[in-house]
Amino acid sequence: MPKNRKSQQLYDRAIRCLSGGVNSPVRAFKAVGGTPIYMERGEGAYIYDVDGNKYLDFCGSWGPLILGHANPNVINAIKHTASLGTSFGTVHENEVFLAEKIKRLCPHIELLRFVSSGTEAVMSAIRLARAYTKRDKIIKFSGCYHGHSDYLLVSAGSGLVTFGIPSSGGVPEDFAKHTLVAPLNDIDAVEEIFVKYGKEIAAVIIEPVPANNGLLLQPQSYLGFLREITKQYGALLIFDEVISGFRVAPGGATEYYGIKPDLTTYGKVVGGGLPVGAFGGPADIMNLLAPLGPVYQAGTLSGNPLALASGLATLEYLEQNDSWRKLERESREFVQNLRKGVKGLPVNIITIASIFWISMQAETATRAEEIDAEGAAKYTSLFNQALEAGIYLAPSAYEVGFISTEHTREDLSIAAEKLAGIIKSLYLV
Ligand SMILES: Cc1ncc(COP(=O)(O)O)c(C=O)c1O
Repeated sequence: MPKNRKSQQLYDRAIRCLSGGVNSPVRAFKAVGGTPIYMERGEGAYIYDVDGNKYLDFCGSWGPLILGHANPNVINAIKHTASLGTSFGTVHENEVFLAEKIKRLCPHIELLRFVSSGTEAVMSAIRLARAYTKRDKIIKFSGCYHGHSDYLLVSAGSGLVTFGIPSSGGVPEDFAKHTLVAPLNDIDAVEEIFVKYGKEIAAVIIEPVPANNGLLLQPQSYLGFLREITKQYGALLIFDEVISGFRVAPGGATEYYGIKPDLTTYGKVVGGGLPVGAFGGPADIMNLLAPLGPVYQAGTLSGNPLALASGLATLEYLEQNDSWRKLERESREFVQNLRKGVKGLPVNIITIASIFWISMQAETATRAEEIDAEGAAKYTSLFNQALEAGIYLAPSAYEVGFISTEHTREDLSIAAEKLAGIIKSLYLV
């Protein structure tokens, strides 16, 4: 009997009732081929599909599950909250508790607002930046993803200083023209944009740990440069910490690199697996939001009690168990083992804290433009053979892997050996 018979049957039904059979495109396995696998349950570091197969999970729901699956503290917090009611559409205590916790972990944040996704957090932060500076243009970097709002689904045109061009159907060129796109880790490009359009730029937005197009780690000095130039021209610096927040350090990349942005956006870990996004910054900017100020932003389920209970339980667990330090130590060991196993091959294991990226090229990239597209074909084989070996990697060459507190040293050591074996076999032919 085929290993994924039930998954195949479900997918056959899904494509008749859901667009593309999915609710988020990468889940369709288009980049790696084969049938998407329907998961039934998760426990700790493992996920189990509807056909009874078990996988060591390195996707972690794309980042939120820093505590692995079904952490008892998180589940109990959700259960308790649900038993009191799922949503009131009023203020409630969890929003105060979680906001206070975030402020303690991220002292650069004075005021916050909760939303339901990273996309919403970024979209709202940019609206706020535009209102605060009374300017329209923003600078983003090629290779950084900030959710799917119109003016951020924009890629670079040709040339160093470019107006964005829509990278998705349905985005008017008129919207994209306010987004200027620069390569990452390129001081000249950003300087050139500021020289030309300095007085029109509301904000520079960057993933301080760019983790949506491989893992394109930036030198600390580059983030420092962005801090300086935005100050010089009166633009805001926005750190999109949807992936790095509460992951690379308690205070995210802001703490890790010691550079303070004006506005910060959060998602993923802050919801512990339920839909939460947040954005925050100094009071003089945040108080422009309605009801105090003229910038409208709202949400029926924003700051939902269940979602915030899950986020709060997650952050409390991380804090109480010294998890960031442990995660860093175990992730480093895993990466070292993997590196040892693939020594001599044109493969690069890039890592920061509990995030890693298996890059199928020898050179370390700090810009999207430096990624060799041929590596993606090799990754397809790696993904499928890993799956066969009981390891679930993200179904795309450009996505990173996440390690959770539930991945044991033994899990990681076996996985490093298996993955290295598979990678080696890809270079034998
Ligand atoms: C850095 C970054 N910003 C924003 C988003 C959008 O978040 P969401 O998918 O919750 O809308 C993502 C999602 O992957 C992300 O990685």
